Amino acid sequence: IKCIGILTSGGDASGMNAAIRAVTRSAIFNGYTVKGIYRGYEGLIRNEIKEFTTQDVSSIIQRGGTILKTARSKDFMTPEGRKVAYDNMVAAGIDALIVIGGNGSLTGALTFAQEFNVPCIGLPGTIDNDLYGTDSTIGYDTALNTIVECVDKIRDTATSHDRIFFVEVMGRDAGFLAQNSAIASGAEAAIIPEDQTDVDQLEQFIGRGFRKSKNSSIVIVSESPKDGGAMHYAERVKKEYPQYDVRVTILGHLQRGGSPSAYDRILASRLGVGAIEALKEDQRNVMIGIRNDKVVYVPFSEAIKKDKPLDKSLIQVLDELSI
Ligand code: F6P
Repeated sequence: IKCIGILTSGGDASGMNAAIRAVTRSAIFNGYTVKGIYRGYEGLIRNEIKEFTTQDVSSIIQRGGTILKTARSKDFMTPEGRKVAYDNMVAAGIDALIVIGGNGSLTGALTFAQEFNVPCIGLPGTIDNDLYGTDSTIGYDTALNTIVECVDKIRDTATSHDRIFFVEVMGRDAGFLAQNSAIASGAEAAIIPEDQTDVDQLEQFIGRGFRKSKNSSIVIVSESPKDGGAMHYAERVKKEYPQYDVRVTILGHLQRGGSPSAYDRILASRLGVGAIEALKEDQRNVMIGIRNDKVVYVPFSEAIKKDKPLDKSLIQVLDELSI
């Protein structure tokens, strides 16, 4: 391997730039050439490729988003699209690919690697923290801190007006952001996909005493296209308990941007260096993760299984502390 291509794909996450910087600098340090591919897999298909020097990644460690831009490429999901991508990659002299992204992006990398025998290495980049085999994904900590900052502000209004707020946070199918932001912001409850039982979570919350010992409450709701999210729960409460003053805040995309936390910068830097180490060791089709503070290699097929467990004791921590 002489030349490494790097791309970011899927939803942007704070710390992706720190990862681009780490991969580029570590690759050059180890004697490789680096080519930046713009707009994820889409840029590989459209041939948006540029050689990167160490200067190209100067002063980006502190910036949110991704200087390489990102996309969710529909064309790359087709065999024809992937063939064009492969031809462009070969024409650009790229021998290996480093993909920074979430579940969909690493699924794409696995398919591509299997079809064309391309060495691919993945870095977990998503605010959702839903990749198996790594304790944290790049962007998760920053998003968590952003949510907590927002909920602290919402709390001021909730207490001043004696209101119940349903705050909707991102996470796609995973409740890591919701559960942990609820603990960190002292919320009264979290409604998360991992806790779907026969007993409705809203009913449980109501059953335990709506406002608990307080005059206001904050319920963090994990986004869910299936049940309608925070809006749906707020409507139910308004209908069934008209005496309560209920409001909804959907934090939306403000959770994705912003300067990465120190934790995410360090995580991205370690994972970026780990990716080059992995290529040097002839590793293929693995995601670089960190588990118990050690860099680990997780096969793509494991990382994307969508069953990263949320530690159930977190549910108990919130329940006990929000009385
Ligand atoms: O995967 C990251 C994420 O922010 C999810 O939490 C969310 O469901 C989704 O992306 C939103 O995607 P988009 O930016 O395309 O609306």
